[in-house]
Amino acid sequence: MTTTPAEPDQAALEARQAQLQASFDATIARHDRIEPRDWMPDAYRKTLVRQIAQHAHSEIIGMQPEGNWIGRAPSLRRKAILLAKVQDEAGHGLYLYSACETLGVSRAELTELLLAGRQKYSSIFNYPTLSYADVGTIGWLVDGAAICNQVPLCRTSYGPYGRAMIRICKEESFHQRQGFELLMTMMRGTGAQRAMVQESVDRFWWPSLMMFGPPDAESTNSEQSMAWGVKRNSNDELRQKFVDMTVPQAEALGVTLPDPDLRWNEERGHHDFGEPDWEELAAVIRGNGPCNAQRMAHRRAAHDDGAWVREAATAFAARPAPAPTSAPAEATHEEATR
Ligand code: 3HC
Repeated sequence: MTTTPAEPDQAALEARQAQLQASFDATIARHDRIEPRDWMPDAYRKTLVRQIAQHAHSEIIGMQPEGNWIGRAPSLRRKAILLAKVQDEAGHGLYLYSACETLGVSRAELTELLLAGRQKYSSIFNYPTLSYADVGTIGWLVDGAAICNQVPLCRTSYGPYGRAMIRICKEESFHQRQGFELLMTMMRGTGAQRAMVQESVDRFWWPSLMMFGPPDAESTNSEQSMAWGVKRNSNDELRQKFVDMTVPQAEALGVTLPDPDLRWNEERGHHDFGEPDWEELAAVIRGNGPCNAQRMAHRRAAHDDGAWVREAATAFAARPAPAPTSAPAEATHEEATR
């Protein structure tokens, strides 16, 4: 019997594909890392791009609510702290865009997708910052929630994402402490300052719980993302961890968390807490939160205003190499940076 030449090729291809898939599955099962040059299923790559890009956009858009207060900080010390913190968020965005670029998609493409409304950013940054206490509350609650969500991501299965998260989490930990310290200072101040802190906590508590995403039963991506080791914990597990971690901190601060159902459950060994308003989360994700339009308009304007910088950088990178001169040899990089 004669075979057509295409058949063995097809069979060999399928065998090779099965081998690659088996090697990928074994790496995931060992809780080892997938690296950029390793073979990976298209759907895994797509999920990573979706999640890492959303995370990167969140860091960059997340500069806006606090940036609102840089020019009105109550002291030079507070201004220096806030400037450094907002700058850190820009850095986090850049690490994450770089991690995403290892998956074959450029930062420029990701920015276009965000601006076209085809990629998301975290719901939390669509709430306004109405008082200086919000700077402290964002540090304490929002960065606190971010840490709960992101520490397990240091062990995510994709190497560049996990390594970026290690540094980000160290910085987020500082952010959370600076927020707590600011609130503690205000709580030791006047009655008006204490009231300002409580009012801020009242506004940010529920949106902070929503940062972890919809309940597990409605989380469309969790099951597959957890099977791939992209996510290490479910949305509800992390939300519970955040509540358990935050309740004693609220007591130390002397603020009340605005949830009448919040109480310790001896049997479960966890706090019970009320149900966030999931319709509100869905509306904010759809673009109908209090500040969605403002945040996107600001991001778009910043992107347009930065066009000349991108053009200049591109022209600089494309310039012809300078002609060799007979001038003394340039300092080595080591000497120049000594
Ligand atoms: N805001 C906006 N969209 C959200 C959301 C939120 N809080 N929670 C969920 N969603 C979206 C999801 O992206 C998904 O939509 P998509 O399929 O179109 O992408 C949909 O709602 C269903 O949610 P899932 O639970 O199925 O989605 P995930 O499995 O991706 O879980 C997540 C959501 C827990 C946010 C996960 O993506 C994650 O852990 N991401 C990495 C961390 C991150 O992005 N954090 C954002 C905050 S960054 C930050 O806090 C900065 C710091 O400086 C404060």
